[in-house]
Amino acid sequence: MADKVKSMYVCTQCGHESAKWFGKCPGCGEWNTMTEEIREAIRGKLSAPAKTRASAVPVPITEITTEDEERYHTGSGELDRVLGGGIVKGSLVLLGGDPGIGKSTILLQICANLGKQLKILYISGEESKRQIKLRASRLGVNCESLYVMTETDVEIVANQIQTEKPDMVMVDSIQTMNFKELSSSPGSVTQVRECTNILLRTSKSLDIPCIIVGHVNKDGAIAGPKVLEHIVDAVLYFEGDKQMSYRILRAVKNRYGSTNEIGVFQMGDCGLTEVENPSLMLLSGRPKNVSGTCVACPMEGSRPILAEIQGLVTNSGYGNARRMSTGFDYNRMSMLLAVLEKRCGYYFSSLDAYVNVVGGLRLDEPATDLAVALALVSSLKDIVVPEDVLAFGEIGLTGEIRAVNRASQRVTEAARLGFTKCIMPYHNLKGLTIPEDLDISVIGVRTIRDAVAAL
Ligand code: TYD
Ligand code: MG
Repeated sequence: MADKVKSMYVCTQCGHESAKWFGKCPGCGEWNTMTEEIREAIRGKLSAPAKTRASAVPVPITEITTEDEERYHTGSGELDRVLGGGIVKGSLVLLGGDPGIGKSTILLQICANLGKQLKILYISGEESKRQIKLRASRLGVNCESLYVMTETDVEIVANQIQTEKPDMVMVDSIQTMNFKELSSSPGSVTQVRECTNILLRTSKSLDIPCIIVGHVNKDGAIAGPKVLEHIVDAVLYFEGDKQMSYRILRAVKNRYGSTNEIGVFQMGDCGLTEVENPSLMLLSGRPKNVSGTCVACPMEGSRPILAEIQGLVTNSGYGNARRMSTGFDYNRMSMLLAVLEKRCGYYFSSLDAYVNVVGGLRLDEPATDLAVALALVSSLKDIVVPEDVLAFGEIGLTGEIRAVNRASQRVTEAARLGFTKCIMPYHNLKGLTIPEDLDISVIGVRTIRDAVAAL
């Protein structure tokens, strides 16, 4: 049959395909992300070697042996934890994040440790060998078993992997890779998917772990890492404000571990360093004896983290009052203001209100409600929340404080960092267990009014 050329519209954010163009993607709801791609049947062979067909024979599940998977330790405790204890041999890991967040940096840094025992092939389609060398020297990475290749043709890359047989492969970034048989430009959804598939087949057939970098990109011109999530074994995202020095590494998918873990890093002159105690870092430089600030204890994965929440309430200079929130959901803030007005008699209607989560953190957990409400009331009434007091709890529409999960863990973390008083949901008091050597008093509250009175 003759090769048929047809054109498809593909969303660069989620990979949704359609024969028709849409302004708004029906798959993910993003605007202006549908791009036209030409689809043709791919001629010629793919470069991955043909495997034996043994895997096609059904086997009773009782006869499948499960020896522990072999893992390589990266030398970075935080990264290993997010990966579930190291990189599993033969796995494909996708490392996503905004451009400039530090993906290339962390890859080079883990080479310093991995390169002691393993032969690593680092493929870059973005930087020249000289640039990589300069960065590596700055980061103190200098090992003989790290091989650098600057190439964008994915077939050449796959062939090199097959001839060199390294112990680990790193590809920076998948959006620069190009498969010649496809006519679409590098970075398009088809290219990115096909290149990943080729790397997947090559690395799985040789049992080589492979880390792929994918840029998160909001303008829709190039395909984001989301379109690859279903292909790879683990998906890690680097998050954080580029202006702020710290970065959070989060697992979104992991076939070999939990997705609850996060890793916290700080970007400095010598690359990324691990932050073992993120709460301490987030609370450093906190103002003392001023109104409008309260400490919350959200959970980041399975770890409690303390974060300072600031509220500012001022007279409105304009006709309608302004509301602004950074790091906290705007609609949730509006809801909290409405509850404070209707249920507690704190009036904000002719006042501007601002909420800010310090450190560029984004908090979406309802357990931070109480701290946000207290920060706002504190600013409105000019009441100081003492510096050793922390609050957590979800606020309902009747002004009640609702129970949250993992209360014991939150209180323990607060006590460990020297907080002496914790305002928390009354319904969480039952079953609260705190280590005996920690000294913290807990106050269970049922409504926001109780919480303000407890200050
Ligand atoms: P990079 O790893 O190149 O980002 P990505 O690969 O995710 O696009 O990180 C680049 C940023 O990190 C850049 O803004 C400079 C900063 N940086 C430092 O602050 N210190 C360092 O030692 C390095 C290597 C980078
Ligand atoms: Mg880079």
